[in-house]
Amino acid sequence: MTWHSGRQAEGETILVTGANAGIGYFVAEQLAASGATVVLGCRDTAKADLAMQTIRSRVPDARLRGVGLDLSDLSSLPTAVEALEADRLDAVVLNAGILLSGPDRRLSPQRHELMFATNHLGHFALVAHLAPILTTTPHSRVITVGSFAARSERLDLADLPSEHDYRPKRTYGRSKLAQMLVGFELDRRLRAHGSDTASIVVHPGGALDSLTPSRPPLFVRTTTERLRGLPAGLMLHGKHAAAETIVRATLDPDITGGQLWGPRVFGLRGQPHRETPRPHMTDPDTAAELWSASSALTGLDPFERPVPPAQP
Ligand SMILES: NC(=O)c1ccc[n+]([C@@H]2O[C@H](COP(=O)([O-])OP(=O)(O)OC[C@H]3O[C@@H](n4cnc5c(N)ncnc54)[C@H](OP(=O)(O)O)[C@@H]3O)[C@@H](O)[C@H]2O)c1
Repeated sequence: MTWHSGRQAEGETILVTGANAGIGYFVAEQLAASGATVVLGCRDTAKADLAMQTIRSRVPDARLRGVGLDLSDLSSLPTAVEALEADRLDAVVLNAGILLSGPDRRLSPQRHELMFATNHLGHFALVAHLAPILTTTPHSRVITVGSFAARSERLDLADLPSEHDYRPKRTYGRSKLAQMLVGFELDRRLRAHGSDTASIVVHPGGALDSLTPSRPPLFVRTTTERLRGLPAGLMLHGKHAAAETIVRATLDPDITGGQLWGPRVFGLRGQPHRETPRPHMTDPDTAAELWSASSALTGLDPFERPVPPAQP
């Protein structure tokens, strides 16, 4: 079953971060086709407008809104959450992400390493700000988009911001592992608080633009790009296909909190499939330490009293 072929999400409101491009765009398009009101959380208003125009050209009755959201800047998040102006939030899809390749360690406005700040701390803080509206919306969901890159990484709890050993690919993988650890920990905490909000972790496999269909005017894949991408299609898939696992985790009532979903074929491509998480992704002790550190760095804790921010 395709989870965006019916109107099963009619009446629901779903926020998708990084919905103006890549996988997030296709998540927004597919959720709009399912009847949900989709809020595109993007840092560039013009890009969000173009994405909404593109979705409307394919889903004429799409219900869409944009909110400005820069996950790298913790100070921008309260305003973004206020701008939601929604009385319910059925799901938030924590999709936005960056993978830097250059050798220089870049910093966020709060002087945290930029990938850790954007992918992990920004989403941690966003969920903290959204906690009141999420926990008062019946059966709401937090969908964390992790990565297969987290399989081979381990956190260095003594050096979370990669101050002492910065390697871009590893720092990225660790930021995704941090997101996944928090996604599973969040579900445990929600259960402990008696909440019916579910936290579900997904990963999209390997998704390439060259295997992704065009969505003019937002994104046009040339014939040359398509031909170049063909061999990779044996192992990987397009961003439209990667979005399907995320959309299923958002909408399928049979998927419950604490589960991990990814694509079926080697976890790299194909239909949504429930996976068994590796033990290091669900380790409660590591997650508890990471949660405390993240609370200290953001000054926020969704289920505890706020604490003052620590200096990085
Ligand atoms: N593609 C893959 O093979 C793959 C594999 C594993 C996991 N993932 C994960 O899947 C997610 C989507 O990946 P993708 O391939 O679709 O990436 P993408 O095409 O590069 O799109 C990333 C999106 O995140 C947004 N973003 C980046 N920094 C942001 C910030 N500070 N505030 C708000 N939004 C921000 C981007 O906005 P701008 O346009 O403004 O930059 C863009 O909309 C990411 O979390 C990634 O880690 C992807």
